[in-house]
Amino acid sequence: MKVLILPDAAAATDRAASVLIDELRARPASVLGLATGGTMEPLYERLRASHREGLSFAQATTFNLDEYVGLGPDHPRSYHAYMREKLFDQVDIDPSRAHLPRGDTADPHAEAAAYEDAIGRAGGIDLQLLGLGANGHIGFNEPMSSLASPTRIKTLTRSTRDANRRFFEGAEPVPRFAITMGIGTILRARACVLLATGAGKAGAAARMIEGPVSAACPASALQMHPRATVMLDRAAAAELELRSYYEHVHPDGRGRDVV
Ligand code: GLP
Repeated sequence: MKVLILPDAAAATDRAASVLIDELRARPASVLGLATGGTMEPLYERLRASHREGLSFAQATTFNLDEYVGLGPDHPRSYHAYMREKLFDQVDIDPSRAHLPRGDTADPHAEAAAYEDAIGRAGGIDLQLLGLGANGHIGFNEPMSSLASPTRIKTLTRSTRDANRRFFEGAEPVPRFAITMGIGTILRARACVLLATGAGKAGAAARMIEGPVSAACPASALQMHPRATVMLDRAAAAELELRSYYEHVHPDGRGRDVV
């Protein structure tokens, strides 16, 4: 696992965005795994800016990590709506190749299985973007998720629902279930880039990087991935025991061929 510590959140976000931009420039028909959440909003801003400067998504295929069960694609708090607003409606991606699981199907279990199959049919994910939950989740793989899990339904923890309440208005309840790529699905991606910023992620980042590989911290499974890079700002890196070592290896997060 490569650990890059950037001076601040903007620099960490730039670094993660540049990996996606470089991937698309080198291989325009890449299959990208995409993530949602507050951390990714400025990253998508950078992708939009790059598109305005000529970067094309026209040949790319994307698969998002997850969606809330019960929310249709037109629900304003759905991840479908998030992705349309932050990226898909503002770049030249072919909407038929921009995939998210549907949260409003009659049979979410069948939808999850079909989503896993669709990833396989696309040839697998070339580059998977990930955020980090304060409880160590990736996608919506909550603690104690199987490290070999496929795309499936997960019950959200109270802490995750509380953390995401800020995206829901007033009395509207945060959904209790999500369809998420599994940890096994994520580990099959050919490369992973995880971006975590802010002091609220420092504990989870330390457990992910330096803790035991354990379902108790789903992100720790990335220790088993041959091409995983973690990008942190200094606040998110604050609890790392070997922080000075990572900074010695990659001063200011520099380094060639990061994924
Ligand atoms: C959400 C998403 C994750 C995301 C994480 C962190 O619940 N399912 O994919 O990485 O939680 O979100 P944020 O960036 O808002 O802290």
